[in-house]
Amino acid sequence: TASLFFSAATLAQTVPDYAALIEQAHQKYKSNHDGNVADYIPALAAYSPNNFAITLATVDGKIYQAGDISKAFPMESLSKVFTLALAMEQRGPQEVLDKLGANATGLPFNSGLAVELTKGAPENPLVNAGAMSTVSLIDAKDKTDRWNKILANLNAWADATLTVNEPVFRSEMETNQHNQALAQLMASYNSFYGNTQDAVEIYTRQCSVDITVEQLAKMGAVLANKGKSPFNGKQLLNERYVPQVLAEMAIAGLYDGSGKWLYTVGIPAKSGVGGGMVAVVPRQYAIAVYSPPLDSAGNSVRAQQTIEYVAHATQANLF
Ligand code: DON
Repeated sequence: TASLFFSAATLAQTVPDYAALIEQAHQKYKSNHDGNVADYIPALAAYSPNNFAITLATVDGKIYQAGDISKAFPMESLSKVFTLALAMEQRGPQEVLDKLGANATGLPFNSGLAVELTKGAPENPLVNAGAMSTVSLIDAKDKTDRWNKILANLNAWADATLTVNEPVFRSEMETNQHNQALAQLMASYNSFYGNTQDAVEIYTRQCSVDITVEQLAKMGAVLANKGKSPFNGKQLLNERYVPQVLAEMAIAGLYDGSGKWLYTVGIPAKSGVGGGMVAVVPRQYAIAVYSPPLDSAGNSVRAQQTIEYVAHATQANLF
């Protein structure tokens, strides 16, 4: 038994040198400018393709960072994960599965064809149709209350007081006809649970919330830490529901890039067209990266490279 104990002890994992890894990743990718900054929302086109920042947040509350960490960017689709978590907390996983789904669409994130093919089932809460339906599902007295609950939830996860980027919000409201159409199409199939106009506006507002990589990494760390924030100690999501939120990220977090991402990197992640991305290694850490140029699926090129590098070096692949 003595030798058995000894061999078990030598197998114990040593903590990776996260500080060195983040620095190496920053050096390695800082001069890569592949991809294109999103311009279908006019205000997003103004962001510099050079912006590049990384934060890794561990489940024991440590932070490691590199690059332009003070630069804020709009959450865009990253917000969908945390409003899903709120819906999950309020309704539980069965209702989320029944009403929002847990399947890839196999089509772009704003596809109307996807909604039509399923007669209004959004397939998952991370495509635009499903995310707007999620917003409509949140328990609230009225429109103001719905927004207040969603923002308070984002704040609690980020351990910060977040604000809406008003120019981005206005720009997106002026150009969101496609999302309005998706919401109406879903409503025509009874897959919407409240006023469509209100939900589209609140969805657009949550997408326009500004964030930094540090705040985003802290949000991801809640999922890595069984639903409890390592930073403010609050249990923000029932521990039992964390696997379902991570499963939704694995299924659709990178849209039509999700399968390739899972195959090559093997950890749940979520992107936003503002250039942010967060990935979660359960019980270890979350990593957030900001770099605006996107690939054709709408995912930050450099964020994917950076996270793949760090995930590989820390043997994070779940499979
Ligand atoms: O609704 C939209 O199109 C944007 N507010 C968010 C889309 C998005 O971030 C998709 N991400 N990769």
